[in-house]
Amino acid sequence: MSRPRVFVARKLPGPAVERLAQTLEVAVWPGPLPPPREALLKEAAQSEGLLTLLTDRVDVALLDAAPRLRAVSNMAVGYDNIDVQACTARRIAVGNTPGVLTETTADFTFALLLAAARRVVEADAWVRAGRWRTWDPSLLLGQDVFGATLGIIGFGLIGQAVAKRARGFGMRVLTTTRGDRTQEAAALGAEQVPLSQLLAQSDFVSLHVPLGEQTHHLISGTELARMKRTAFLINTSRGPVVDPAALNEALRAGTLRGAALDVTDPEPIPPGDPLLEAPNLLIAPHIGSASEATRSRMAQMAADNLLAALNGQRPPHCVNPELYGG
Ligand code: DGY
Repeated sequence: MSRPRVFVARKLPGPAVERLAQTLEVAVWPGPLPPPREALLKEAAQSEGLLTLLTDRVDVALLDAAPRLRAVSNMAVGYDNIDVQACTARRIAVGNTPGVLTETTADFTFALLLAAARRVVEADAWVRAGRWRTWDPSLLLGQDVFGATLGIIGFGLIGQAVAKRARGFGMRVLTTTRGDRTQEAAALGAEQVPLSQLLAQSDFVSLHVPLGEQTHHLISGTELARMKRTAFLINTSRGPVVDPAALNEALRAGTLRGAALDVTDPEPIPPGDPLLEAPNLLIAPHIGSASEATRSRMAQMAADNLLAALNGQRPPHCVNPELYGG
């Protein structure tokens, strides 16, 4: 009997592909960049399973071209690149990788927050440019993190992990009343307040919501205008949660002290994008979960989801569990 074929959309860290190859026929996209659309459609057409990344769009057109497809496993906690409803309608299981990247992403959120507040990237460039002449009482003054107020929008696992770190920094933590996370917020000493209050009172606003219709441009001109002039915006969620034109305007007008983004819209941010020239902006290339251990675990988890689904079982982390009776 022939083995089910799966397409893995990029080389993966760790032993995940080897595990898949023990029972499945595996094709791995060899390039360092995502498969072009045509190649992805062609591979999907021949496969029972796909192991995708957030760069690979799984939409109706792809599903229509892939009649054999039974499982899509995304190596990410976010799955806004996948039309889950369309997958469910075709009885295609969809998996993701929650939990495993929580602490790593929260670490990176704090790395961005601290780097922006204390001007770490600018300081490094200053030294390398040979400008360090003496200890100067006015040189590269930043903002204190200790004791400041942190507004966390999105109080899921990553938002909560960020709140835990904030406690270590003696921060006052605010989160919104929009999500139903009252117990979690209370346990971490976070105050639940309306979004407008969170924006007005926070020294740092950190975004941890999934991308969807309700969160697209959640932070736009109106929200940025509510923030303190001395505040920083940190985004490690998804680029389109922030309106980039509004952010660009606020940074240039000086109505926002700074921002640190791990995600942009589009990704990668193209050369010549006005945001690249905006003052007080730090940008990282979507590496929130990028530790060796975590990326290897994410790949394993994505492989586990795929193996289970192709074996007729519910994937351990299934986004459309209704396929298996809820
Ligand atoms: C995710 O998992 O959704 C991140 O954005 C990448 O780790």
